[in-house]
Amino acid sequence: MVATGSGTKSGKAFYVTTPIYYVNDAPHLGHAYTTVAGDVLTRWHRQRGERVWFLTGTDEHGQKVLRTAESKGVSPQEWCDKLVEEAWKPLWQHLEIANDDFIRTTEKRHTDRVREFVQDLYDKGEIYKGGYEGPYCVGCEEYKLPGELLEGTGENAGKQLCPIHKRPVEILKEENYFFRLSEYADKLLAHYEANPGFIQPESARNEVLSFVRQGLQDLSISRSTFDWGVPVPWDDDHVIYVWVDALLNYATAVGYNQNQETFDASFPADVHLLGKDILRFHAVIWPALLMANGLPLPGRIVANGWLLVGGEKMSKSNLTGISPRQITSHFGVDAFRWYLLRAIAYGQDGSFSWEDLAARYTSELANDYGNLASRVAAMVGKYFDGVLPDASADGDAEQAVHDGLARAVAEADRKIGDDVEFQAGLLAIFEFIKQVNGYISEQEPWKVAKDDSPEARARLATILYTAAESLRAVAVLLHPFMPASSQKLWESLGAEPALGPLADQRVQEAGQWGRLPAGSTVTKGAALFPRLEEQPGA
Ligand code: MSP
Repeated sequence: MVATGSGTKSGKAFYVTTPIYYVNDAPHLGHAYTTVAGDVLTRWHRQRGERVWFLTGTDEHGQKVLRTAESKGVSPQEWCDKLVEEAWKPLWQHLEIANDDFIRTTEKRHTDRVREFVQDLYDKGEIYKGGYEGPYCVGCEEYKLPGELLEGTGENAGKQLCPIHKRPVEILKEENYFFRLSEYADKLLAHYEANPGFIQPESARNEVLSFVRQGLQDLSISRSTFDWGVPVPWDDDHVIYVWVDALLNYATAVGYNQNQETFDASFPADVHLLGKDILRFHAVIWPALLMANGLPLPGRIVANGWLLVGGEKMSKSNLTGISPRQITSHFGVDAFRWYLLRAIAYGQDGSFSWEDLAARYTSELANDYGNLASRVAAMVGKYFDGVLPDASADGDAEQAVHDGLARAVAEADRKIGDDVEFQAGLLAIFEFIKQVNGYISEQEPWKVAKDDSPEARARLATILYTAAESLRAVAVLLHPFMPASSQKLWESLGAEPALGPLADQRVQEAGQWGRLPAGSTVTKGAALFPRLEEQPGA
């Protein structure tokens, strides 16, 4: 029985990772997609009251990065330093990514440990020297199987192409060190069988199962034709294959072979998030490496689909890369974060389109959600001088709202926190927003306000309290997705003095009715989501 990540050790953090990205170029929308997903998952679990460790970083070795640096006329280290400091870290900050650590594979804390890990495998007889010749894609940094290649056309006629990058593969012939991956096929299959949730979604699991069932080849884990990598400890003529180097970041960053206490407090990851292009590395090679070294396996490998532009995987090499800042400068950071997870079911491919983003922004964020928040604040201002009244006349209509909230919280928590299905979770939250809008339209507080009788005042107070208390819960539930606008709403409801900072609010408490105290100071601030024509630069 192999230990797995989720909940096996008490006191262990919930450990979430993104892929570490190649720094051959600046980040684009596809990279931001997985990173935002990791951030939302992290923030959700933090709001569940769990200790969470969220890791991201950069993958800096290998031919892909080396060739880019050469073409720019700088050393690979200089190239990486520049891009990490000027492009990658600033973008994650801009997108409000709350990672606990950022690992770079050129850091000594990583390279030393990688050498130790690989030496250990060598000492255990898991590595041997052999030869290999085959088609290699530098874009993927991977040997391809002849059967998966595409026939080139046009300028590539007569050449064979990588199915992902659509560029010619190179035939590499090398004497390398090999990891005995072939011996792990049965053990991996047994693990998948015993842990049906190990690979998510189902389509990804099926792909891996059928791949491994065909049997595995041993894996070439060193390169000798270039030197931009971690030297193999027992043979300086070789550097460690960039993928083995990269996968180990998940262990080295939390203290593998360095600090047992921090290692035990996080490792293994509960959720590795990654795009489906790198599924096999994570679902096959990574667990096999861990098994070979007697380390516990991660809880879950969750693959996202591709963001498509013009029907193709969006990428710089296809000239379809979109910079996240192009989007945030127009729609804001919150809308950007929300849209990626709202528009596409996590795990499936989906097209990015400006038209769709603009339409959803207007109808769901500005109209349904933003308008609700500003109308409620305006009415509390107008009818109760900005002091939240008490609800003393609850009836069936209010009970329906209370029930709707309880349903939304349960559904969102299950979908986002347990199933990593962001879209379904968001739909549950926005369904509740719709319900509150419907409640206000039916109760017509502006009409009730025309009557000065004590009964009518009590009714009006109840309607506005119900709406404001609903928004209190919405701010908590949307905070992981849209931190800045949720904070604005929290402030506009005057929630902080009584309830404390928004980030400290628990998901479990979001559905407890009546937390926002009567007497809170409600203020109508600027619109949460300004109309697009009012946005700067529109
Ligand atoms: N360096 C490796 C990962 C090593 S992890 C131990 C790598 N880097 S990458 O820069 O190519 O990033 C790949 C990841 O970026 C994908 O797995 C995915 O998470 C994200 N995406 C890049 N383009 C994407 C799309 N067009 N759509 C969705 N995700 C995309 O592979």
